[in-house]
Amino acid sequence: MRYLTSFNTDLLEIIECDVLIVGSGIAGLFTALNIDDSLKVCLISKTDLKTNNSYLAQGGIAVTFNKKDFQGHIDDTLKAGAFYNDLTAVRILVEEGRKNVEKLIEYGVDFDKIDGEISFTREGGHLERRIIHKKDYTGKEIIEKLIQVVEQRDNIHCYEDTFLVDVLTCDNSVDGAIAVINDKECLIKTNHAVLATGGVGRLFLNSTNSSISTGDGIAAAYRAGAVIEDMEFVQFHPTPFHSNGEAFLISEAVRGEGGILRNDSGEAFMGKYHSLKDLAPRDIVSRSILKEQQLQGNKNIYLDVTHFEEGYFEKRFPSIFSYCISQNVDPRKEWIPVNPSAHYLMGGIKTDLFGRTNIEGLYSCGEAARTGVQGANRLASNSLSEGLVFGNRVANVINESKKNDGNYVSVINEESSELVTEYKKDIVILKTIMDETANILRTRKKLSSAKDRIRTLEKKYEDVYSYKKEFLEFKNMIIVASLIIDMALKRKKSLGSHYLENDDE
Ligand code: SIN
Repeated sequence: MRYLTSFNTDLLEIIECDVLIVGSGIAGLFTALNIDDSLKVCLISKTDLKTNNSYLAQGGIAVTFNKKDFQGHIDDTLKAGAFYNDLTAVRILVEEGRKNVEKLIEYGVDFDKIDGEISFTREGGHLERRIIHKKDYTGKEIIEKLIQVVEQRDNIHCYEDTFLVDVLTCDNSVDGAIAVINDKECLIKTNHAVLATGGVGRLFLNSTNSSISTGDGIAAAYRAGAVIEDMEFVQFHPTPFHSNGEAFLISEAVRGEGGILRNDSGEAFMGKYHSLKDLAPRDIVSRSILKEQQLQGNKNIYLDVTHFEEGYFEKRFPSIFSYCISQNVDPRKEWIPVNPSAHYLMGGIKTDLFGRTNIEGLYSCGEAARTGVQGANRLASNSLSEGLVFGNRVANVINESKKNDGNYVSVINEESSELVTEYKKDIVILKTIMDETANILRTRKKLSSAKDRIRTLEKKYEDVYSYKKEFLEFKNMIIVASLIIDMALKRKKSLGSHYLENDDE
């Protein structure tokens, strides 16, 4: 399927810009701010500018201020990534982190300090304290400040409630995009499109991700012919708190500051699984939690912070504290129940070291991109850094490039409302398939059955068209789910977050 809907380009409202940016997380906003102000930028966001995974980031930004720690940060990133990372991309991430963080500070972003100096915390997989943060709402602090700066820029035009339908190409080069703005299709004429559309967590029943994380940018890039890679690597965060069908993140920084995982009998079990104990890389902690749950007959696993110095937890982690209290768990006196949930996609749209894809004028950065930085399992807090460093690189490349003209064709598919009413229940079916098969402990048998079940859904909706945003999103979810399952089936041995319970099955 090349296009998600039908469109007659002669009849559509037209928006023209030099650069289209899709997504308002850290990668999208930071790219926009680094584009030369002589270029007109349209930044579109599926709901509002604050609904994205970056906004929800608690822990912080992994950044090395001291050159002496460059090699340490590189080594920890490679180790967490199962050495599947692209070494040059990792070096760039580490070496260019500081200058981009300094830009954030210039934009007004505030980080926690001790005696006037930025304070660093630790998270899983880091052998050093190198994570800067704003209490436990680092993402909120960054996104709110960046939005304020974006709003002051005359060359950046933001469109909320705007859904990217498809990227238009001609001779393997971008010449525009189709988007639905407030339920109305429009043609965006541009030669540069940056997909910073985030992850895919909402393909699963339980996820820490924001409601918009359904992989729309990856699906649109795939339909346009972009190379998609490493989709089998889905990271599950070990310690969200589940309640009412939502997974609230309990930051890894809580373990970085001394939190301890305990089983139902009170045993601090992580020492059995890894020498870094509670601060082992995330994929290992998530698998250990599941194994421990199985061993004790599906009883709860908990995070214990009751030994923290009086007053510290609520001061350092105010959002987590108030969430726990709202769930009738007082972390000062009780252990917090935790459960791994879908959190981050390491794969995505394949790019070079400047965010360029195989299609001229199409770029990607942030979680939607596969730059090679994250390998088979991302090191904690390397995601905001990746958004900054590669967002800045994409902007630099665009600033230096030339414009060319578009040549638009129409695609007419009859809208068919038949079945459009049924898709809501099929969204739940799709998420259940992903939860049962593309999860922390996988088997090839289950992955193969998922492939057939997803193919059935794909066929059912193949010729069904509608402009309803949720339906378009669902069709993208089917594409992305089948990319994850197909790539997971192709990787026959366990690696990083792709863990097969029985490799030889
Ligand atoms: C966390 O705070 O544990 C999440 C940060 C991240 O995903 O790196």
